[in-house]
Amino acid sequence: MTETLFTNISQLVTPGVGVQRGAAMRDLTVIPDAAMLLSGGVVRWVGPRADAPGMVQEHDLGGVAVVPGLIDPHTHAVWAGDRLADFEARVQGVPYEEILARGGGIRSSMRATGAAGVEELVTLARPRLEALRASGATTTEVKSGYGLDFDAERRMLQAVRALQSEFGLVPTLLIHVPPTGGRAEYVQAVCHDLIPGVAREGLATAVDVFTEREAFTVDETRAILQAAKAHGLQTKLHADQFHAIGGTELACELGALSVDHLEASGPAQIAALAASNTVATILPGVTLHLGLPAAPGRALIDAGAAVAVGTDLNPGSSPVFSTQLALALAVRLCRLTPAEALTACTVNAAAALGLQGRGALAPGQRADFLALHSPDWRDLPYTLGANPVRNVFVSGTSV
Ligand code: NIG
Ligand code: FE
Repeated sequence: MTETLFTNISQLVTPGVGVQRGAAMRDLTVIPDAAMLLSGGVVRWVGPRADAPGMVQEHDLGGVAVVPGLIDPHTHAVWAGDRLADFEARVQGVPYEEILARGGGIRSSMRATGAAGVEELVTLARPRLEALRASGATTTEVKSGYGLDFDAERRMLQAVRALQSEFGLVPTLLIHVPPTGGRAEYVQAVCHDLIPGVAREGLATAVDVFTEREAFTVDETRAILQAAKAHGLQTKLHADQFHAIGGTELACELGALSVDHLEASGPAQIAALAASNTVATILPGVTLHLGLPAAPGRALIDAGAAVAVGTDLNPGSSPVFSTQLALALAVRLCRLTPAEALTACTVNAAAALGLQGRGALAPGQRADFLALHSPDWRDLPYTLGANPVRNVFVSGTSV
């Protein structure tokens, strides 16, 4: 197997391998004047340049900083239609939940997405995924959830499958909002038809539910997550976005991979997350776009939780097409330190997706990494509105 030594790295920066909780999120390793040896798409060695093995093919990175590839653990990158009229109404004072209750919002994206074929969905999603990757995302989760009827949900997941290898996608079945009538029958059909079918066809690795006053109750969520587990799928949740109605506690009890949003979480939800192995995924783009309170990122870490950060890229609550920007916003809006934000967007995001072997730059890890424009890695959390990422490498190859 060919070995390549990446050299002329001003700083190689990495969190520890595997999920990092609480204060450990700040423990980055920073190696000045570093080198990194790869073979077969895997990191074999990292260390000071002076200690690197000789007699191997070299790739000079030109004196810039290297960090792990970012992992975006929460996106809704497949949708049709737009939410531009909602946006205009919202900034003039109409609340997001009211737009949804009136049949707009998520329901309008459902009408447009439900009417689109797989090829159209692929064409619409590709440039969004290209933008995320250019911003540093080497692995990206994508949810269904704008389908409502089950064929439309499957078309969304088929679109994700068509783009999966090109962009390193992780597909999630999202049970997003109930129909306006017959919700008990809908939940039954989700549990007995949709979830078993999706599991059989391998169309998703996890099931997510939007647990909220305008969406699913805790009891409905429990039934759906139990069906997911019974069919060998992982579980995650959208919870505490507007109201803490018990979704977070349920997810922790059931051993979900992650609970996402958490803008309305209080001390009880923070304590539940800190005492569990469930990752707390925060989405600062939603805070910026909807003007919601920020998720308590600082309090979660101080309580000992494992925090991840994602874009939540979607047309209604977070039109954030940059994983790097989500990282940078987590520092400003959720009071993470730059080091914590890097950990949140790498190893902890991998844990939120149930992935091992990526997110850190250490022997045995997948060689997903970023060469920045800057010699100082802190330009990654610092920069707003320009791209500090120069090159994106997936399994050791520039993409
Ligand atoms: O993660 N909160 C629910 N779901 C999405 C928003 C989807 C939409 O508004 O289209 C979210 O914020
Ligand atoms: Fe979301």
